[in-house]
Order: sequence, then structure tokens, then C-alpha cells
Amino acid sequence: MNPAAAPSLDRLEILDVLWRRDPTTGTREPVHTADAAARLRASGQARGARFIESLPQTGGVLDQDALDRVFLGVHYELARLSEYLQVPQRMAAGIAPLIAAVREREGPGPVHVIDVGCGIGLDVRWMASAKIHGPDVEYVGVDLNGLLIEAATRLAAIELVSATFVVGDAFEAVATIAHPDRTVLISQGLLHHVGADRLTEFFSRHHESGLAAFAHFDVNPGFWSTLGGWVLHRVRMREPVSRHDGNLSLRRALDAPALLAHARAGVGDFYSLECADVAAWLPAPHRALRPIVGVRR
Ligand SMILES: C[S@@+](CC[C@H](N)C(=O)[O-])C[C@H]1O[C@@H](n2cnc3c(N)ncnc32)[C@H](O)[C@@H]1O
Repeated sequence: MNPAAAPSLDRLEILDVLWRRDPTTGTREPVHTADAAARLRASGQARGARFIESLPQTGGVLDQDALDRVFLGVHYELARLSEYLQVPQRMAAGIAPLIAAVREREGPGPVHVIDVGCGIGLDVRWMASAKIHGPDVEYVGVDLNGLLIEAATRLAAIELVSATFVVGDAFEAVATIAHPDRTVLISQGLLHHVGADRLTEFFSRHHESGLAAFAHFDVNPGFWSTLGGWVLHRVRMREPVSRHDGNLSLRRALDAPALLAHARAGVGDFYSLECADVAAWLPAPHRALRPIVGVRR
């Protein structure tokens, strides 16, 4: 499949339009209600736009405390859903062979696991706390959203977990990795945010940085994940934004052939690649989140 021919996934999650940052300084910027609502209306999401207009605001600018409550509320709910689905455990098991491969190829020394789009850092905090990959593994979480990074840092301190969290863009984080030979880059739920238009570029940065390996987990789209996701969001999520964005993310996610085409276009033959979709006729909730894995040859 030619990635350039892939349809643009133009529907937006509500949280996508509620966080604005200066691209140069990274500083958080105020969100104008009319701008945020217009972005959603432009992609045909009138209900999402009305939700934004209902949030507390002053002089046409959304109230920052109210936005913080929305972001944290949604991400705490997402973390509870991830705990229920044992996402950190599944990610840890999925990346264990990649960490072993780095150790085998590079010899003794630290291995760096960097989680891009880490949110409040549940996956990294769980792995660091369980010391699941043995000694000498350094866990770092990166996210665009400074509020979530503050929460991740606070939670890691409370839990006495040795993990570091930094504000940053996934594209820049990949390009500036300090020890690429000893680094495994991971993510969960990021790829559908990157979007089809920029995925090839995202993967090409992996190759340019010389990264040892990567594993990006995202929803496997299909009948069962859409149905199962809808049921899970109705049963377990209370925040309207969690339900809206969660269900939309199931529709924005790309299937394995599309992900593999973007990855291959980005990394060429320098990496072996694997990504398997779950058969559409079987309910397999434990495989609803599956990775695209790349290992430098
Ligand atoms: C669906 S959430 C997943 C959060 C977390 N990985 C989890 O599984 O709970 C997607 C996260 O990606 C972050 N994000 C989106 N685009 C990003 C980018 N270009 N660089 C860094 N983070 C990004 C968002 O701020 C958000 O926290």
C-alpha cells in the first residue's frame, strides 16, 4: 500500500484541540473557545464543539483550571482502563525481547526505554516499579502536555519509582536520543495522534537517529475492537470526553498493512518490522492493543 494514498484521518479528539503550546518555547498557551470549537465543527463534530462551548470560560478564553480537570480526569480514567486491561504488563512483555537484544548486541551497560506520548506515565511507572526488565534499565516518559508530565512526575515521587518525565514532542525526542544504540523507543496510543499524514516522517526519524529498536502500541482497528471499545467506554468511563475521544481513537487507528507501509517507507530496509492484526472474526480483547515492532538490522 502506498502510504501517500492513505486517507487523511481528519476527525479530531476533543483533547487535541484543548491543549495549545508555543512550538518554539513549549509554553502552554490559552485556548480560545471559538477557535477550538471551530476546529471541531470544521471536521463535522458539532457535539464535540458544543461540549467545548459548555466549559467555563472568561472573555472567550477557556478556564485553565477547568481544562486541567478535564485532562487529568480523562487520563486518570484511561489509566484505570489500562490497569484493567493489564496494558503495562503487556507492553513490558512485548518489549522484553528488544531489551534483551540490545544487551546482547551492545554488552553490559544501561538500556534506555523512552515512552513517547506517555500521558501520566502509567506504563513507565509500572515497569520501573516492578523492575520488570532487570537492573540497569532507565525509564523516561515524554509528552507534549506539561500538565500530564507534572502529574506523572508527582505520581512517580509518591510511588518512590525511579523514572524521569520530560515535556517534549515525540518527533524531536526521537531525533535527539543520546544513546541510540542502547535505546528502545515505545509508545501506547500515540500513533493515531501522529496521524497518517506524518507517520512516514515519524518513522524516518527512527532511522535517522540510529535507534536500536521500537515498539509502538495502538488499537488494532476492526469490528471487535470497535464494539468492545464502545462497551468498555460505556461501562468504565464517566467523563464525556473519555467516551468521545476513546471511541474516536478506535476509528482513527491504522491497520497493520498501513502501519507497516509507513514504517517501511520511513526506515527502509535498515530495520526488521513486525505488526500483526487480530483476525476480524474473533473477539480477542487481550490483543486489541498490538505493537508495530522494529529492530535495527
Ligand atoms: C491517548 S493518550 C495515551 C497516553 C498514554 N500513553 C497512555 O497509554 O495512557 C496520547 C498521548 O500522546 C500525547 N501526544 C500526542 N502527540 C504527541 C507528540 N507529537 N509528542 C508527544 N506527545 C504527544 C498526548 O498529549 C497524550 O498524552
